[in-house]
Formats: sequence, structure tokens, C-alpha cells
Amino acid sequence: MARVLNFSAGPSALPEAVLKKAAEEMLDWGGTGQSVMEMSHRSKAYESIIKKTEELFRQALKVPEDYHVLFLQGGASLQFHTIPLNFLTKTKKADYIQTGAWSQKAVEEAQRLGDINIVGSSKDKKWSYLPPIANANPDADYFYYCYNNTIEGTQFHQVPQVKAPLITDISSGILSQPFDVSKHAVVFAGAQKNLGPAGVTIVMIKKDFTDRIPEGLPAMLNYKTHIDNASLFNTPPCYSIYIVGLVLQHIQDLGGTDVLFEANRQKAKLLYDFLDNSKYFYSPVEKKDRSLMNVPFLTRVADPEASEAVNKKFVKEAEAAGLVNLAGHRSVGGMRASIYNAITVDGVKKLVDFLKDFEKKNA
Ligand SMILES: Cc1ncc(COP(=O)(O)O)c(C=O)c1O
Repeated sequence: MARVLNFSAGPSALPEAVLKKAAEEMLDWGGTGQSVMEMSHRSKAYESIIKKTEELFRQALKVPEDYHVLFLQGGASLQFHTIPLNFLTKTKKADYIQTGAWSQKAVEEAQRLGDINIVGSSKDKKWSYLPPIANANPDADYFYYCYNNTIEGTQFHQVPQVKAPLITDISSGILSQPFDVSKHAVVFAGAQKNLGPAGVTIVMIKKDFTDRIPEGLPAMLNYKTHIDNASLFNTPPCYSIYIVGLVLQHIQDLGGTDVLFEANRQKAKLLYDFLDNSKYFYSPVEKKDRSLMNVPFLTRVADPEASEAVNKKFVKEAEAAGLVNLAGHRSVGGMRASIYNAITVDGVKKLVDFLKDFEKKNA
């Protein structure tokens, strides 16, 4: 079967060149006579893979020298708890801005451990915009935000201007465009969108920020454990890290993050321009806050039942045309196209053509 155009929000499409390289190396990585899946994580061969992956990652995101880079398990969701456990430790107060489902989950975890001040929320308008920041606490242990809201389709295009150290979840925005790590104390991302397969979460921590990690934390939940052991305290998600390395090599071969950004801008413009000019489809997200990676859209069909039926029809017909995973998140409905790095400009053109055709037939 021909490969489909996969607009999944995650796990999501990977560059075909990466999948081919992985297939080529499946039975014998680098003349070792073994698959990476079969290798000891303590072997010289695997050590070279994880080191190279870190090196490529640091280059791609321009991670400053004074940051640790960790490859961890437990998904981005585990970071929602690990962050306050390690860093909500001085004033035990932190600021969180609520911009959607993922920041909400982060708030819920943090509230188990300290005093959480909500400095803004866009819940009033179904998370369709980014709220202004009110009453930020300069003495907060940190200020937390979700850089790109995968489900709702909003993105911080500017780093929040606050005094407290910044922590961000960049899972669905990582390597989509240049990003200033140096303005943050902690940055983390699950790999399964722009970086590789599920199973590994990359966490960057400014070295001097680790001073505030308290004694006595469970080993696996203590960032120091993973820093001291270069992400090899226990068996890491070896194969996922290896694929992340292949993705990063591919990004480097293409010309780096700036080249991806240019293509991502073009892709987003194609899709948003279509939605803004359509009489049938529209984007519910405020223009200035729109995500470059996740584009939710709806039809103007007013009757809820008829609208739901149209959404289902759209998703079904799109799938038959080889455009898959276009249903909106179950919590918001409608449709959503995630146009991560592995989706090409040509792929988005095909989607827009399909949208035009669907509009013509159904409007
Ligand atoms: C922005 C964001 N944060 C966190 C998560 C949760 O990631 P995980 O499933 O790796 O825990 C997701 C998953 O889609 C996400 O999009």
C-alpha cells in the first residue's frame, strides 16, 4: 500500500528517509551484527548512539553549554509531577498560565505539591486564545507555560515576560522553529511529534537551577540521578533515542531548524489562508495566537447533529483519499491537522485541495 499523509497529533509522521535508514540498519547496526533493539545500553556501540543523539540535539536547538540534556521515560506527563517535585521547593509557590488541556494537567499535578497561582486562563472561550498574564509573582519558584497547545491550536509566539524562572512544555513545538532555550530554566518535550517515536522525553535543565533540588527524592524522580548518570541510570528507551538521532541527522542534512521553519511557515500560511477565505470551514483560534503545528478547524454547519455528521463524513472521505488522522481531539471535536516537520509543503497542498473539493460538494 502507498504511504498515507498522516496528520496525527502524536505519535505522528516520521520522515520517510529516517524510516528507510532504520530499516536498513535493522539487522546490523554499524557492523555489530545486532539491531539497536538488541544492544546492551552499556555497550560502546550504544554509548556512541546516545552521545551522538545528544550532540545533534544540542546543535539543532542551539542548547547552551550550561544546560543538561536528559533522555527520560514516563512521557511528558510524568514531567508535570517531576518538575514541581524538584523545583517547587523554595517559596513553594509557582505561577501557571492555563491555556488548554495539557497545562491544566500540569496544574493538577503541581497542586499536589504546593501553592499554584493561575496567572491567566482562556477557558472562557474554549482555549481559543492566549490570555494576558495578570498578577505574576516575582518570587514564584517558577513560571510554567505550555509553549504549543496541541489540542487547542494556540502557540506562544513570544516568551512570557516575567521575573520568575521559566519552565515550558514544548512537546508539540520543538524544532518547528528557532527557540531560545537560554531564556528558560527547564524545557521539556515528549518525542512523539517532531522528534521521533513515543517512549522518550527530552528534558533540558539549566545547570545552576539544579541547586534547588531537595534531598531524599525517589531516585527515578530526581533529575540529579539522571544528570549524574548521563541518562543511563537504568535502561533507557534505547531504540526511541536511536530514532531521535536519525531524525536529528535528517534535520541537519536538510539544513537545520531554520530551513524547517521556512517550510513550516509556508505550510501554516497555505492552510490558514484557505480556512480564512472559506465560506464553509473556519479556524476557531484567534489569529495572533495560532499554532504553526496544530491547526484545528470546524465547519459552519450550525445544527450540532448535522455538524457532527459532516465531521464524520469529512474524516472518512479524507481517509479514503489517503489523508489520515484528521479528527479533532475527542475533547473538542471538529477536525485538526497536525502539520509537523515530516509533513511537506506538498502534503499540505494536497490537504487544501481536498478541503476545497469537500467544500464544493457539501457547502
Ligand atoms: C503539549 C503536550 N504536553 C504533554 C503531552 C503528554 O505527552 P505524553 O503522552 O508523552 O505524556 C502531550 C501529548 O500529546 C502534549 O501534546
